[in-house]
Amino acid sequence: MTKDTETLIRLPKRKQSSHDCLIKNSGCLWLSLTSVFTIVLIACFTLLWVYISSGPSRDPGSIVQRLFFRVKAAGTNVKQECAITDERKFDCHPEVGATKSICASRGCCWKPTTPSASNLNSVSSVGVPSCFYPLNYTEYHVGNISRTSDKITAFLSRNTSSYYKEDVKLLKLVVTYESSYRIHIKIYDPLHPRYEVPVEINKPAKIFGSSSAASSFDIKITESPFSFQVYRKDGHVKLLDTSVGGFIFADQFLQLSTLLPSRYVYGLGEHRATLLHSLNWTRVTLWNKDRPPVEHSNLYGSHPFYLVMEEDGRSHGVFLLNSNAMDVILQHAPAITWRAIGGILDFYIFTGPSPANVISQYTELIGRPFMPPYWSLGFHICRYGYKSVNQTLDVALRTHAAGIPQDVQWDDLDYSYGWMDFTYDAERFGDVPGLARTLHDMGMHYMMIFDPGLSNSQPIGSYLPYDYGMELDLFIKDNVTGKPLVGKVWPGTTVWVDWTHPKAQKYWTTLVTGFHNQVEFDGMWVDMNEPSNMVNGAVDGCPKNSSLENPPYVPAVHGGSLKFFTICPSSTQYTSSHYNLHNLYGLMMTKMSHNALLNARPNQRPFVISRSTYPGQGRYGGHWTGDNAATWHDLYASIPGILNFNLFGIPMVGADICGFRMNTTEPLCQRWYQLGAFYTFSRSHQERDTNSHDPTMFSKTLIDSTRKAYLLRYSLLPHLYTLFYNSHTRGETVLRPLFFEYPKDKNTYGIDQQFMWGKCFLISPVLSENTTEVQGYFPKGSWYDIQTGSQQKSNGQYVTIATPLDKINVHLREGCVIVTQTPNLTTTMSRKNKFGLVVALLDDGKSEGELYADDGKSADSIQKSKYNRILFSASKKDRQITSAVDHLGYHEDMVLGNLTIFNIGTKPSQLTVNGVLCNFTFSQNQVINVEGLTADLKKRLTVKWT
Ligand code: NOJ
Repeated sequence: MTKDTETLIRLPKRKQSSHDCLIKNSGCLWLSLTSVFTIVLIACFTLLWVYISSGPSRDPGSIVQRLFFRVKAAGTNVKQECAITDERKFDCHPEVGATKSICASRGCCWKPTTPSASNLNSVSSVGVPSCFYPLNYTEYHVGNISRTSDKITAFLSRNTSSYYKEDVKLLKLVVTYESSYRIHIKIYDPLHPRYEVPVEINKPAKIFGSSSAASSFDIKITESPFSFQVYRKDGHVKLLDTSVGGFIFADQFLQLSTLLPSRYVYGLGEHRATLLHSLNWTRVTLWNKDRPPVEHSNLYGSHPFYLVMEEDGRSHGVFLLNSNAMDVILQHAPAITWRAIGGILDFYIFTGPSPANVISQYTELIGRPFMPPYWSLGFHICRYGYKSVNQTLDVALRTHAAGIPQDVQWDDLDYSYGWMDFTYDAERFGDVPGLARTLHDMGMHYMMIFDPGLSNSQPIGSYLPYDYGMELDLFIKDNVTGKPLVGKVWPGTTVWVDWTHPKAQKYWTTLVTGFHNQVEFDGMWVDMNEPSNMVNGAVDGCPKNSSLENPPYVPAVHGGSLKFFTICPSSTQYTSSHYNLHNLYGLMMTKMSHNALLNARPNQRPFVISRSTYPGQGRYGGHWTGDNAATWHDLYASIPGILNFNLFGIPMVGADICGFRMNTTEPLCQRWYQLGAFYTFSRSHQERDTNSHDPTMFSKTLIDSTRKAYLLRYSLLPHLYTLFYNSHTRGETVLRPLFFEYPKDKNTYGIDQQFMWGKCFLISPVLSENTTEVQGYFPKGSWYDIQTGSQQKSNGQYVTIATPLDKINVHLREGCVIVTQTPNLTTTMSRKNKFGLVVALLDDGKSEGELYADDGKSADSIQKSKYNRILFSASKKDRQITSAVDHLGYHEDMVLGNLTIFNIGTKPSQLTVNGVLCNFTFSQNQVINVEGLTADLKKRLTVKWT
């Protein structure tokens, strides 16, 4: 680059930040070469653009003047226009301590409000800002815009400095139409490569093409000042509109605000809140952190993704692929502000139009959820504080003795020696290998916990995980000394595996496989992987004057600093700083554990449950919602929690049943087992010193109601498994909010005390004490109590349903055909039982359903086509039910033993199954029951009645 070129295109003189370069050494050299090339190209394009746009009046020498004029114009854009309604005020001073003079120095408007944004830094509601942007504040201006058949590119430049250090003064905007429903908008520094999130993104094989007639949306770019709008072509609904200003792109402060088309915003987690976000100046902070889940606080995972329901019932989603700490602000306008402290602005917009489409489009990009092993859909019991291998086993024995199904028994850190991974305590858990074998003999499975912080204080040669890690040099390093960063977790002082190290997978696979050779565990529980640290930063503290420790803007993280309960953000990982990679730590550990399990248990489906998550987690594992408490509020909060994770593409999710912290009570625990029986991941778990709360610790009433709830769950597992197949192959949610099925019914938009299993089941649990009824919303149509067949007709209204202590409300939607299976104490046993068919006939039209079945454990069932898929159809008018085998590749017996038909009308005189006359019972509820069938489900089925 010559000096002249540099002046001409006004390159910012910024040296590359140490944490910017994603690719080490040779990569950086290559990037530098590419940068030079890019600069030359930009210079040429800039000259061309100025030349062309100066038009016929151009004279020799005017090109440079004109360029200068344009840039200068940008600098004069601080003319204040401060007459702005409160709801449209965007915060110009998000840090604590705004004053009139500082505000003026930022070129912003000042009108004190009480309480003001800047004084509320510790709570989630930030309030109307006192210091706010004038209209058209954005100082970037567009040049060199070009449209090709598959993308739009433009350069954005600013001449002035924002009030954050190291503005990136020249940016590149690339808009790609990736499909008819997905648009990608990337804003980055074309000259100095910055950190970009190193997760796998499924890019389209072929670019769709620029705004072709087939796409349902388009983008409008305003050049001066820069803003863009993404809108639906049909109806011109603006999905995003950034013209509200405040766009900043500095090294450690990236901000973009957009108006939203409605007030119905979902997603943005992990946070504890209602499912439908409040836009009352809500601040959602994303920075993975280990603290018990409470409202208004960043939690274990980060998901910068939201879904909006538009006024007409259509839906779209937006994903910001950025892993740095960030605040996201929602305000009444309605509007959203993204404020990240690193990386780039990399947006994906999914245009639905249904909310289900949006999630499917999102997981198409970030990865479809993994296909779980069948046993993982059973009931899991765990606790922290088992004192011996016998105590662990005893829980499973007594649960089965009480007739309660249980598939999986877990051990927490108790099994380990000195809380160290890959060891077991010879005295108390000496026979842990035998425990795993016994559980397997019972048809059960065994889960063990693994933490990423490894003890560094064992004698050399005595603790392989540390020695081997040192040999491979793969622990996260202190930025100053270059030595492994030392913090503290359960085993005392610890170091942390750097999952970005090229040898990390080999390391983890070796350890997991080696340990699995000793103890045949079936899945991995990966915990403390935010990563959690019991000292803030490191035992020796963090470097004082690193910009990564003290960024100019700190999002409203719990504890006030990025290092709170985690490691120093300045610490070094192989591919970048921990500052950039922090939020990916749990995802990476999950992925490596998933792969390690595949090695340790060849061709067995891995099962990993992780506390910390990031987009893409769903393809490798599930999640539990962390250290909740034994309160009625926590019982309720679990529902928006699990629904959100279905939106995030992590459908295998549950909360600790009966509460992790505090001693639970029987009434709470009774209702919690009933609700927990309908989580996808159904596990009872609790803290070390709390009273045991596995079901048999309580009275007969609780034991009976828990047995009833889990027998119901187990009978529905073929259906739940089919939902997981649809999630894995098509990106459908498994548990979902009501509005997913009824997007035109606005009454459903705020419902988060009920939820659906797929499209067919509505679950309405009791969530408060001393209550034996539920006020449940029933969308328009007929619903059938799955346990009694009684019909609930609704016009779209709230209904009071009697819910005695032994009941959870599960209603089947009209028009559904579902497959059940006679339950047993484990799925190993129930999988051998006969199937059932339950049909909820529509008065008019076809009822439909499907079943996916395979051996429930092979990793290659789908890939090698070793599965069956059967489709069902039923019609009240035609008086028949038929099936069609869509795919046949799994050849075990699948016998249909019973049939239930809801809403059959008057009593039929006869009923045949595959031409054979059958006995049946008919009840007042217009329900038909047929028992004792032996029809082969793998063949076409025909049921007729007259
Ligand atoms: C924290 C986890 O959240 C909790 O579930 C677990 O019991 C403890 N760590 C001990 O491992």
